[in-house]
Amino acid sequence: MKLRMVILLAVFAALPATVLAAGNAKEGKEAFAAHCQMCHGPNGEGNPALAKMLHATIPPLGSKAVQSLTDAQMKEVIEKGKGKMQPIQGLSAADITNVIAFVRTLGKK
Ligand code: HEC
Repeated sequence: MKLRMVILLAVFAALPATVLAAGNAKEGKEAFAAHCQMCHGPNGEGNPALAKMLHATIPPLGSKAVQSLTDAQMKEVIEKGKGKMQPIQGLSAADITNVIAFVRTLGKK
């Protein structure tokens, strides 16, 4: 009886947190199209012409190497840039969470 209460409480306590933490991939797709697609391509495969122009290698976002980044690491790449990628301006914290949720869908193909 007591245990059941504890489990119930734990479930209710965890629910809003997961709902808030999980980004919305659908909205992320729009933000991705506006802020990332010109370099990363619509499906994250990378834009070869842009890579050439930047003299950079753009890793496919669906690749194991990119998908193995944690959400926090991805956020840092977006906010602070990495290598040839400049920090991305104009995204709210929610946008970034949603974009990351979208990037995660690219790894599931
Ligand atoms: C101006 C072009 C450009 C834009 C815009 C851009 N990126 Fe990138 N991105 C790059 C390049 C170039 C790299 C490779 C960086 C390197 O290692 O030199 C990269 C790498 C990455 C990586 C892999 C980092 C790693 O550790 O391997 C992620 C994840 C990423 N970008 C996500 C995003 C997201 C999400 C957006 C949009 C919010 C975005 N990028 C917008 C050019 C861009």
